[in-house]
Amino acid sequence: MLESLKPQPQDKILQLIALYRDDPRADKIDLGVGVYKDATGLTPVMRAVKAAERQLWEIETTKTYTGLAGEPAFAAAMIAMILGEGFEGRAAAVATPGGTGAIRQALELIKLSAPGAKVWLSDPTWPNHPSIIKYLGMESAEYRYFDAATCGIDFAGLLEDLGRVSAGDVVLLHGCCHNPTGANLDMGQWAQVVDLLLARGAVPFVDLAYQGFGDGLQEDAAATRLIASSFPEVLIAASCSKNFGIYRERTGILIALADPTRKALVQGNLAFLNRQNYSFPPDHGARLVTMILADPALRADWQAELEEVRLNMLSLRQSLAHELRRATNSDRYDFVAHHRGMFSRLGLSEAQVMELRDRFGVYMVGDSRINIAGLNARTVPILAAAIAAVGG
Ligand code: LMR
Repeated sequence: MLESLKPQPQDKILQLIALYRDDPRADKIDLGVGVYKDATGLTPVMRAVKAAERQLWEIETTKTYTGLAGEPAFAAAMIAMILGEGFEGRAAAVATPGGTGAIRQALELIKLSAPGAKVWLSDPTWPNHPSIIKYLGMESAEYRYFDAATCGIDFAGLLEDLGRVSAGDVVLLHGCCHNPTGANLDMGQWAQVVDLLLARGAVPFVDLAYQGFGDGLQEDAAATRLIASSFPEVLIAASCSKNFGIYRERTGILIALADPTRKALVQGNLAFLNRQNYSFPPDHGARLVTMILADPALRADWQAELEEVRLNMLSLRQSLAHELRRATNSDRYDFVAHHRGMFSRLGLSEAQVMELRDRFGVYMVGDSRINIAGLNARTVPILAAAIAAVGG
């Protein structure tokens, strides 16, 4: 049986991890996978997470199963963090293994209720979006998003393409900190997108993996909140991997907003999907998140550390834009300071990306996406000089 398997394409982001690891050069720079690193290159366990783990070790008396949808307290805390108050009556939710698990369950839910629905993706988007959609045999389409000339948003192209969305189509939107570009809509643009998609009868599907990494915990939820309060039905896949730094704990949630009369039906279907795919979702990370969000002291400490992380990335952005100005004697990289989140797409060619890897040991995704958090005060000028050296 197994001899009939075909080799699968490697994930371009995850592939970089191995390539970087196997590079013997001591001065190599890893700007690949989206993992936060401090100035020493460490991905720390956040203080509040450590404190919650210590408490949990003391108070946890059983490891028996949780609910099939995860603990209701986790869902309530996440719904409040993402949407604020007032959504309980419309929000069905399941805990999932990370943000990817939430995306997968959302797509399965779409398939279950509207098998022919088309899913619109930004061009570009996180490569795992089209990959899972293709794996599930679903139909997809792309809307323009990134303007290669300015490394900003092609907003006219975006509106034109979303103007072709049909009623019942699903439109996947990055709630904040667009991956891979780092270019984000402002609230005026979000309002236009909301009006257009409402007029088209679309169902928004928000991927929210970086809340707190862009402009702040509340600010980064603003677009998702606008969407949630505007549309009768919304899917939201959220991840705790980055903002709680608990990548390997696989902690995420899928929230489905629906008419209150349909909440129980949707909840039952979400629990069913969990049962079919992996039964009970992972609990440890979700429990830590619930404890942190419920305890004022832990929550304040977590928010303070998240803010340190955000401001560190912001200051790296500013110094990289500054160093690139000097190294290239131009302002064409000023967009780096205006982008938000972990990533910026620099607009380099694939040949330049390869040259940066071969000559300078600088690892970035082939589309020239860099993880800002892979930099530090020492490597920022090195990167800027290397980019100038390859003609960027
Ligand atoms: C990324 O885009 O680098 C992260 O979301 C990690 C991943 O799983 O790809």
